[in-house]
Amino acid sequence: MQKSTNNSRLDPYQTKTPTTTLQLDSFLNEKKVLGQFLKLAVSKKIPVCGTDTGRFLELACMLKKPANILEIGCGIGFSTYFLVKHLSLKGAYTGIDMNGERLREAENFISGIFSGKNLAFMAGNAIKMIPGLTGRYDMVFIDASKFEYPLYIKIIKNKLLPGAIVIADNIFYKNKVFSGEAGAHDAGSVAGIRKYIDYISKNLGFRTVFFEVGDGLGISEYMP
Ligand SMILES: C[S@@+](CC[C@H](N)C(=O)[O-])C[C@H]1O[C@@H](n2cnc3c(N)ncnc32)[C@H](O)[C@@H]1O
Repeated sequence: MQKSTNNSRLDPYQTKTPTTTLQLDSFLNEKKVLGQFLKLAVSKKIPVCGTDTGRFLELACMLKKPANILEIGCGIGFSTYFLVKHLSLKGAYTGIDMNGERLREAENFISGIFSGKNLAFMAGNAIKMIPGLTGRYDMVFIDASKFEYPLYIKIIKNKLLPGAIVIADNIFYKNKVFSGEAGAHDAGSVAGIRKYIDYISKNLGFRTVFFEVGDGLGISEYMP
């Protein structure tokens, strides 16, 4: 996907524009740039989490102030923008996606805006790559293959710091998870999300709430 906007005009910390008027200008510009990015993604049928979910991620990161973020399925980086926006210069972000082309889009988009932050974009299958990661994480966003959600949570569990927040997208999956409306095509995805919900609900290490934001979010606090 071509960059159609001037990313350098995004300045989330208003480091160059300290007045209230310019902060509002910066917000309006951010809204415009993200709107254009979203529109382009939708026109190319590239899945992204949507603005409500993105803003939820932004708020979660603004309040939690994570030091080490892991994103499983960063796609072209729409969700990444919100995860990284408030990341301090001492913090770190790792994004994984098995689609190399999307991953490069994400890296170009995010590194272009947040140069100077500690960002790593890794191409490959998260299930194979996560066991080899040496870091421990205090914020994880899961937004990859729904049928694999139970595997992701199992392999990241021993990489979580106490108090870590794990946010899983598509937890209601177009209301198919609870309505029983899934067809053969969706059966694997629905079964995966149900198993994920079962795991985080029964596993004593997690305290979980569900929010009706976007396609449904599961927010789990890791309390070993
Ligand atoms: C819904 S999209 C991600 C959207 C992105 N989080 C956003 O909101 O902009 C799901 C992504 O997960 C990736 N994916 C699916 N299974 C994966 C796996 N096992 N390992 C790594 N990436 C995976 C796909 O390539 C796809 O780009």
